[in-house]
Amino acid sequence: MNFQDYPVQSLMYITDRPDIVFTHGKGSWLHDNNGKRYLDFIQGWAVNALGHCNDAMIDALNRQAQRLINPSPAFYNEPMARLAKLLTDNSCFDKVFFANSGAEANEGAIKLARKWGRKFKGGAYEIITFNHGFHGRTLATMSASGKPGWDALYAPQVPGFPKAEFNDIGSVEKLITDKTVAVMLEPIQGEAGVVPASGEFMQQLRALTRERGVLLIVDEVQSGCGRAGTLFAYQLSGIEPDIMTLGKGIGGGVPLAALLARDEIACFEAGDQGGTYNGNPLMSAVGEAVISQLVAPGFLERVRENARYLSDRLLALSDARGLAGERGEGMLRALLLGRDVGPQIVQKARELAPEGLLLNAARPNLLRFMPALNVTRAEIDQMFTMLDNVLDQVL
Ligand SMILES: Cc1ncc(COP(=O)(O)O)c(C=O)c1O
Repeated sequence: MNFQDYPVQSLMYITDRPDIVFTHGKGSWLHDNNGKRYLDFIQGWAVNALGHCNDAMIDALNRQAQRLINPSPAFYNEPMARLAKLLTDNSCFDKVFFANSGAEANEGAIKLARKWGRKFKGGAYEIITFNHGFHGRTLATMSASGKPGWDALYAPQVPGFPKAEFNDIGSVEKLITDKTVAVMLEPIQGEAGVVPASGEFMQQLRALTRERGVLLIVDEVQSGCGRAGTLFAYQLSGIEPDIMTLGKGIGGGVPLAALLARDEIACFEAGDQGGTYNGNPLMSAVGEAVISQLVAPGFLERVRENARYLSDRLLALSDARGLAGERGEGMLRALLLGRDVGPQIVQKARELAPEGLLLNAARPNLLRFMPALNVTRAEIDQMFTMLDNVLDQVL
């Protein structure tokens, strides 16, 4: 079908989109309305952990759709309980609350920390977050984010989120007062351009928050669920946080997110937290199909091996082209371009013919790579061939 024949005019404008409509996908490949195929290294913004239309996810969705879709969050259901156990068995957390988006999971984390502060820390409510951090698009999570310009966009902000500098423990220490209930960070700042917290910083944060009786919250919406090469990115630094949020990868593409906490922190009382779709069996069944594949023997080892290969080749490309290097963890990586040509590369890569390449420039001076965790070496090689072609045109 021609682009002009799709009724896209009825959609509210929120961003510029190219004049194509995606119709179907499988694994690392997406297809558009013109029959063109694209190698996808965005994967729904690090969402499709297992690529497009993963078979086990489809099976789970079909099976569960015929069995039970939503009995209401006021009742237990089978997939919600099984998925919660899968998550607690494979993390340092004891309790799980399911949500529908990363922002909603983070709202839950903020509420849980404030509740804990009211119960156990004399009403402390401030949560120290970080410049350039990203926690979502609700009013509270925008206020928690440190994205330039967001303080004024929907002013007034929700109060209680003083900002520290990432990877600078002194800047955190300076902000801790009697009002501080928690420190919240992304172990790898994704939207900021794939900036990992150093292992040392994570360990210093854990020590400081323990010493001052403050909670440590990790937002693993982007870095979690295998993306960093470990099931959760906090595991890279050998620390145990108090609260973690998950989104994106946990649903492999469907709306599912989670708030996890250790037993002694999980202090919600009846009526404090909820939501119509939270823990619904249909999405929970998909989450179970995703996480079961991630924890299967050998899966994360393969992710780490292929991530090392991707990283080595990015570095070699950077050296060969005189670019500014690469960084990241696992399958969340950035190629530093050293100049603001990211958006131009993204557009030219998409327009390549006969097959396009989908990339993202989280910042104008870098490209972010977030392929399916099960991307093959051949697909990584093909991505570099296509990228080389674009760089020949742009640089
Ligand atoms: C670290 C982090 N937290 C929260 C969010 C928000 O998640 P959602 O878009 O599902 O609300 C994102 C989305 O990019 C994210 O990267």
